[in-house]
Amino acid sequence: MSSIPVIAIDGPSASGKGTVAERVATALGFHFLDSGALYRLTALSAMKQGAALDDEARVAELAVTLPATFRGGAIWLGDENVTDAIRAEAVGEGASKVASLPAVRAALLDRQRAYRQVPGLVADGRDMGTVVFADAVAKIFLTASAEARAERRYKQLIEKGNSASLPSLVADMQARDARDTARAVAPLKPAPDALLLDTTHMDIESAVQAVLAHYRNNCK
Ligand code: C5P
Repeated sequence: MSSIPVIAIDGPSASGKGTVAERVATALGFHFLDSGALYRLTALSAMKQGAALDDEARVAELAVTLPATFRGGAIWLGDENVTDAIRAEAVGEGASKVASLPAVRAALLDRQRAYRQVPGLVADGRDMGTVVFADAVAKIFLTASAEARAERRYKQLIEKGNSASLPSLVADMQARDARDTARAVAPLKPAPDALLLDTTHMDIESAVQAVLAHYRNNCK
């Protein structure tokens, strides 16, 4: 048990939790953990090494020794800047596959907990409130309908000059949700004591304010 406060923000892909978590961390001057990036880095590392994504022992070994650093807003794997590479759809798919392997999840536990440092941490993921920081002072489960999330992802892709198909994004979103929700270890589900925040009809700023209010109510 640690006295350093953690705000755990969990939810499905493209629910807006990454942006909300970062803004909450900035508002409070807290550290920020993007746990999904660690799963993405593990998948990218396996893909680069030609390891099969279902080779549990080998992928777990890669996860333990992952030469990952987060500095100056960029994400590095060894001396390679992989900030954009880890956001590729193929790497997201790979992350979701390696995330279903118990040994990989176990391998990343200590690394995630090491981010808990003064004055506090905002942790974004799928199992922050249920497993990694089960003693978090505030837990939030952020959702939005699959259609709303696919539309957000669609806009992001188009703004970056990529081509995208809305129906296939909805299908991808539903497939990834199903895999994350159905897996045996640390499935995507709200902690019993989490605040449920449905952002289908809510903008980012209102979600940030709701999280800050929940934290302030809980830490008194
Ligand atoms: O959040 P993000 O989309 O970057 O996460 C990529 C994948 O990593 C997710 O689809 C999920 O399968 C996995 N993940 C996880 N547990 C976390 C964070 C991410 O299983 N705490």
